[in-house]
Amino acid sequence: MVGNLKSKILVTGAAGFIGSAVCEKLLNMGFDTVGVDNLNGYYDPKLKLARINRIKKNINKNSNFEFIKLDLVNKTDVKKIFDFGPFEYIVHLAAQAGVRYSLINPMAYVESNINGFVNLLEGIKENKGTKHFVYASSSSVYGGNTKLPFHENDRVDHPISLYAATKKSNELLSFVYSHLYGIPSTGLRLFTVYGPWGRPDMAAFKFVSAILDGKEIEVYNNGGMFRDFTYIDDIVDGIIAVLDKIPISNDTYDEDSMKKDVPYQILNLGNSKSESLMKFLSIIEANLGIKAKIVFKAIQPGDIVSTYADMTAFNEHTGMEIKTSLENGIKNFVFWYKQYYKL
Ligand SMILES: NC(=O)c1ccc[n+]([C@@H]2O[C@H](COP(=O)([O-])OP(=O)(O)OC[C@H]3O[C@@H](n4cnc5c(N)ncnc54)[C@H](O)[C@@H]3O)[C@@H](O)[C@H]2O)c1
Repeated sequence: MVGNLKSKILVTGAAGFIGSAVCEKLLNMGFDTVGVDNLNGYYDPKLKLARINRIKKNINKNSNFEFIKLDLVNKTDVKKIFDFGPFEYIVHLAAQAGVRYSLINPMAYVESNINGFVNLLEGIKENKGTKHFVYASSSSVYGGNTKLPFHENDRVDHPISLYAATKKSNELLSFVYSHLYGIPSTGLRLFTVYGPWGRPDMAAFKFVSAILDGKEIEVYNNGGMFRDFTYIDDIVDGIIAVLDKIPISNDTYDEDSMKKDVPYQILNLGNSKSESLMKFLSIIEANLGIKAKIVFKAIQPGDIVSTYADMTAFNEHTGMEIKTSLENGIKNFVFWYKQYYKL
């Protein structure tokens, strides 16, 4: 249970796939929640607005939701967010996501993921009172590492995409603010999230949409890809489970001098099962009752072959276990997709 019901929580990226689901859950738990998002056009803003409408429609009468449209890149706007506070907890999910797009538009990543991140940290520093800053890092920080499963203590100095480099930078930046200003922070390395209200640039969405339209599906690395697919509800539960588990020391940091007094931690959050992309696709096919037209392609620059989360630290820290099987998760996604697009 997070704090008490008087705690106000800020969620950035509130119109996003994960952020909207986090807002909905917090509101249903009775927490007043402020959501911010710039509703950018990286993918269809109509889907983002529909997520905000969904939150407003399902709101628990005992809690209050305020949505503010603003860009975290704008320092003055970020300062204004704190007029809606004070925020005991902050869940920072706004970012320019996607590995492939970072090869096309690198500055979008620098702006939102670096400048926006520091603007928010500065706001937290100036306004004080935040008990815990929890933000989304990514499994992509493990880069080309081949030792599986990925453990938080593994070296992550060789990101292979700009997206990954910005996420690794977030971990470094939050360490600085925890060290200098005592801001308790947790970076969650999220592993391939899928489920209802998902992102159109990700595999589940792309596959279902192409199969239903009778279009070809490009499968990279000739199908030899493995992902630790993690269902949205498990991610939301994981984020909320970590909120009041405030770090008092950095258990995953190696240098003893820093270990005791920096309230900083990094945790994996994934299903801890590395599943083949072809299996993922075959479950989608089974749910749709249609065979995909597959075109095998070489691996794309920046792509990782396998991801697999070691969840020991997360489980010990929160006591939470991941519940959703790939079969159930995909079934729910396909059901939502057909309903959303009125098919
Ligand atoms: N979905 C995944 O599989 C996954 C995996 C690892 C990490 N993550 C991270 O989790 C977080 C949420 O991802 P998601 O899948 O919900 O993505 P998403 O794109 O659906 O959500 C991000 C939201 O942030 C908003 N945003 C972006 N830049 C902004 C800015 N400068 N100011 C205000 N709002 C801004 C976008 O409009 C969007 O609604 C991101 O930080 C992402 O990098 C996601």
